[in-house]
Amino acid sequence: MKGILLAGGHGTRLHPVTVAVSKQLLPVNDKPMIYYPLSVLMLAGIREITVISTPADLPQIRRLLGDGSDLGLWLDYVEQPVPGGLAEAFVLAADAIGDAPVALVLGDNIFHGHNFYEILQRNSPDDIDGCVLFGYPVEDPHRYGVGETDADGRLIAIEEKPARPRSNRAVVGLYFYDNDVVDIAKNLRPSARGELEITDVNQHYLRRGKARLVDLGRGFAWLDAGTPGSLLAAGQYVHVLEERQGVRIACVEEVALRMGFIDAAACHELGSRQPSSEYGAYVRAVAEELS
Ligand code: TTP
Repeated sequence: MKGILLAGGHGTRLHPVTVAVSKQLLPVNDKPMIYYPLSVLMLAGIREITVISTPADLPQIRRLLGDGSDLGLWLDYVEQPVPGGLAEAFVLAADAIGDAPVALVLGDNIFHGHNFYEILQRNSPDDIDGCVLFGYPVEDPHRYGVGETDADGRLIAIEEKPARPRSNRAVVGLYFYDNDVVDIAKNLRPSARGELEITDVNQHYLRRGKARLVDLGRGFAWLDAGTPGSLLAAGQYVHVLEERQGVRIACVEEVALRMGFIDAAACHELGSRQPSSEYGAYVRAVAEELS
């Protein structure tokens, strides 16, 4: 399975912070926001990842992540000249996707919860037939795509930002698709707001009876960090858990080591490149513990 990390967009809700800086490079507690969605793809076992962002932001993101080889990944970078919608990702990354299935994760989404590794592994098979979406109960479903399922978890309805939501289950920013998604996206027409909508892609799968919605459940944390309040809340959430447990959320070096993408010596070397930060010390300690 190939991965797409979509990290462009306008970031208007964070202006003026994001006038000169990519939203996805802002700190969420101790690390750049983009580490969180990147670690999700890695936990799903995905190593070939296309990072999409704006022409202005892509060079900084590349400066942070490089070609991915430090983490045992293969990263490539594609510009999205103007934010043309989430579904445009599949058109922009079509060459990199080839004939593989693909996972899309949004660059400002943060996931954390028990059994997440198992949930990801279970729902990202290489022979995926259709799509797998994830639902999460929220207080304000009218702000999101909202899904409804039958008793078997098959999606029976999905609506974008409904005035009267049929459920409280928001569709989160992580999507698994078979390879048909590329053709589906290429044939979409822009919506009234001029974007290729991910909801329209999902409607295609729904009409074919090939869309599943997996519940993440209330014991899970799904946060987006697109407004000043939610960015601060996400940082506080991560801070509280990391302080309390002494482990770090979305430490990509640790994930690479635990997934077997790199060995302990390589992980230790990555930690040694950051001798003055607590983050670097954590990476070194993890490498020593697991060597
Ligand atoms: P949004 O939060 O919907 O949009 P945005 O980031 O442009 O922010 P704002 O609403 O404040 O202007 O985007 C969700 C994620 O998808 C985010 O990580 C940005 C990314 N994105 C793209 O990379 N390209 C796009 O065309 C769109 C619409 C979003």
